[in-house]
Amino acid sequence: MEQRPTAVPPPSSPLVIRNAAQVVCVSQHGERVKHGSSMRDLAVLNNGSVLIEDGKITWIGPIAEMPPVAACATILDAANKTVLPGFVDSHTHLLFAGARADEFEARLEGLSYQEIAARGGGINATVRSVRAASADQLKAMARRRLQRLLRFGVTTVEVKSGYGLTLVDEIKCLEVIGQLNAEGPFELVPTFLGAHAVPPEYRDDREGYVQFLIDEMLPEVAHRRLAEFCDVFCEKNVFSLAESERILTRARCLGLQMKLHADELSPLGGAELAGRLGARSADHLLCISDAGIEALAQSGTVATLLPGTAFFLGLAYAPARRLMERGLAVAVASDCNPGTCPTENLPLVGAMACTQMKMLPSEVITALTLNAAAAVGRADRIGSLEVGKQADLIVCDVPDYRHLFYHFGVNHVWRVIKRGQVVSVAGTSSAAPGAHAPAG
Ligand code: NIG
Ligand code: FE
Repeated sequence: MEQRPTAVPPPSSPLVIRNAAQVVCVSQHGERVKHGSSMRDLAVLNNGSVLIEDGKITWIGPIAEMPPVAACATILDAANKTVLPGFVDSHTHLLFAGARADEFEARLEGLSYQEIAARGGGINATVRSVRAASADQLKAMARRRLQRLLRFGVTTVEVKSGYGLTLVDEIKCLEVIGQLNAEGPFELVPTFLGAHAVPPEYRDDREGYVQFLIDEMLPEVAHRRLAEFCDVFCEKNVFSLAESERILTRARCLGLQMKLHADELSPLGGAELAGRLGARSADHLLCISDAGIEALAQSGTVATLLPGTAFFLGLAYAPARRLMERGLAVAVASDCNPGTCPTENLPLVGAMACTQMKMLPSEVITALTLNAAAAVGRADRIGSLEVGKQADLIVCDVPDYRHLFYHFGVNHVWRVIKRGQVVSVAGTSSAAPGAHAPAG
């Protein structure tokens, strides 16, 4: 077994991020989520500095007012740069093996995602690869994707199972997610997605698979505390509304929080179901109905939009503006997966949210930080820059936050800080000791 560092950081000296052109706090008064028009209010401090001690933010303000800091403090000069909360990627399927470039080409030649799935490709193609891979192989592949995400400024990542679809293989995947979280520096949120597809051995007995999920898989996952969330791919020819409800209701009874792949490819009514059950988030929503929007507004469920998937599949985008006009909390995530969105470039997905869904840069920043933290149940701890919160920050080499999406497709992230430690330095794969000037 390879030796890896643990996630528990050594005691660290204070860190001062000094004189940033902008410190984008996102919230100022302990808000745990932003709805509708308030998503534009980012609480930006110009010419700001941030003090980090013991992995937490202890002060934010103009440098002249900074309290005295220990001489051993590390100083990061952020002149002409922008400081933001680390991004939270609240919806990924990044634990997979294999690739599906053949399907990409087949779709370009005219086949649909659903037609490819019906021929045994799609999710079940990746299931074959994941079942054949060892836990160590899966871990190594996922670690590389996580490191790429980290370089794009993502400090917390939700990761779903869902390519194992046997008890043994789903557990194998969830255990790998737990091990990667323990390894750090990225923080992972594990989601059980046993209801991602009906596996081939149950092709003629879907009810048998649903029952197996409910009676065997979910209790085992809950008992072993391998997941915080349960998700279901609620879609025509995948899991029906009634099946999704049975699975999520059982998950809720077992203490798991709920998410739902809702109204992605057809207007099935997944958003209505997610709202009625009180799911933490309803995700995709390309085909959401007015009734679905209303249901999410009533329940306070976060609407997680994944514009990279619409881009990659060539589909119409989710109606982000209508969702925000109705006062919903919108999050944006990558959906990083081998079939419908093979990318770790979350800021590029943010640019798509701007140009294709007409979200303002300020709204997208909220959607990638505080609202995404809310979608994974962590907004009390991460998602904004506020005194007392965990010091998960990024420093970007842009004079203001709009440039992150305006100058698109380029990685502007200069430093990534997780729990107060510099964990990624632009141009390298990890923190470079001595890369910052000592204080004094
Ligand atoms: O979110 N919709 C279901 N799951 C993924 C696709 C997974 C795959 O094709 O491998 C999604 O789009
Ligand atoms: Fe997904």
